[in-house]
Amino acid sequence: MIDINEIRKDFPMLNNHKMQGHQLVYFDNAATSLKPKCVIEAMNDYYFNYNSNVHRGDYDLAAISDARYEQTRQVVADLLSCDSKEIVFTSGTTQAINMVAFGYAMNYLNCDDEIILNEAEHASNILPWYEIARKKHLKIVFAPLDAQGKVDVKQLSSIINEKTKMISIAYVSNVLGAINDVKTIIKIAHEKNIVVLVDAAQAVPHMKVDVKDLDCDFLAFSAHKMCGPTGIGVLYGKYDMLCKMDTISLGGGMNAKFDACQNMLLKKPPYKFEGGTPAIAEVIGFATAIKYLSNIGFDNIANYEKELKKYAIEKLKEIPNIIIYNEANDSGIVTFNIKDVFCQDAGSYFNSKGIAVRSGHHCAKLLPNFLNVIGTVRASFYFYNTKEEIDIFVEACKHGGDFLDAFFK
Ligand code: ALA
Repeated sequence: MIDINEIRKDFPMLNNHKMQGHQLVYFDNAATSLKPKCVIEAMNDYYFNYNSNVHRGDYDLAAISDARYEQTRQVVADLLSCDSKEIVFTSGTTQAINMVAFGYAMNYLNCDDEIILNEAEHASNILPWYEIARKKHLKIVFAPLDAQGKVDVKQLSSIINEKTKMISIAYVSNVLGAINDVKTIIKIAHEKNIVVLVDAAQAVPHMKVDVKDLDCDFLAFSAHKMCGPTGIGVLYGKYDMLCKMDTISLGGGMNAKFDACQNMLLKKPPYKFEGGTPAIAEVIGFATAIKYLSNIGFDNIANYEKELKKYAIEKLKEIPNIIIYNEANDSGIVTFNIKDVFCQDAGSYFNSKGIAVRSGHHCAKLLPNFLNVIGTVRASFYFYNTKEEIDIFVEACKHGGDFLDAFFK
């Protein structure tokens, strides 16, 4: 059970912040989540009390930093049910996907090999593959989507052939919140020796994700969408896949030795991927965020978000000029338009009411084509949002027909 009143006390932004003179209603959680005090305090604690680099120092402070940094790796491994040596810290989901594209696909895919993507993907799961395809003369194939914007599993086999070498797919899509059946997709892929990367940026913050159960080869996500700091994320890789993969970042901390004859011996994964001074305070804050979410319980979070989404959909459906694009999807995202109102005008109008939503393409620039729209408005919920906030939002939506008038009043 979610104790919403207690939870909201943990978030300074929910208690103090006014936007346009209104109490903030923060519905842009798919872009980034708010941070609880404990995460901010954990990072401050590092800067106030044991600021030092990791993996380099022979003094007490450095030992504390080392221990806390490596403890986070174990906390992440426990979260995903894998071994800590399979957890690589990255700057976020985008870097993690780029690492697989340029460190794995670059070496193991050959001319005319095929990579399966789909039109609902975020730019960070499209553009690295376009670039690799350009460099290596590979072919990008788009998997068909069903009416809800999920990859159509039944049609997947028809686009797989002996040239298909990779599938890269979001677990939960960032615009429609469609939850793809990645477990089945991975099973189909592995029967044909196809490597699968799961972009779990919109999944790990909201539900229990078990990489061994999914059997994915790679999985990427970011801390900032799950109450953690910005600038830190994770690449999970099966250990043998990480061993096969090249690093795209070389420097201090990731090598065992090198000499003047250009010989170099790199450390084993995950360290060979973590060249340079990492985001230490952020890694430490991330562990606190995961513990905070785990205490609430990922099943509680998922169920509560579903309840919020259901409530919002029921209310929005009573308003004739609201067009909803993802009613059937189970995640806490409502994507819609107000009839005859440009999505970014709607976004500005919501802002004038103190409501933060995202408008436009949401970085998924192929999806408007699938939806046959210019853009959409996205309200994305998290476990600290309330039905009362949805009421405020719905009340604003009711004046949809007057949006432009209202905006200029
Ligand atoms: N990927 C983030 C979003 O969907 C930024 O808004």
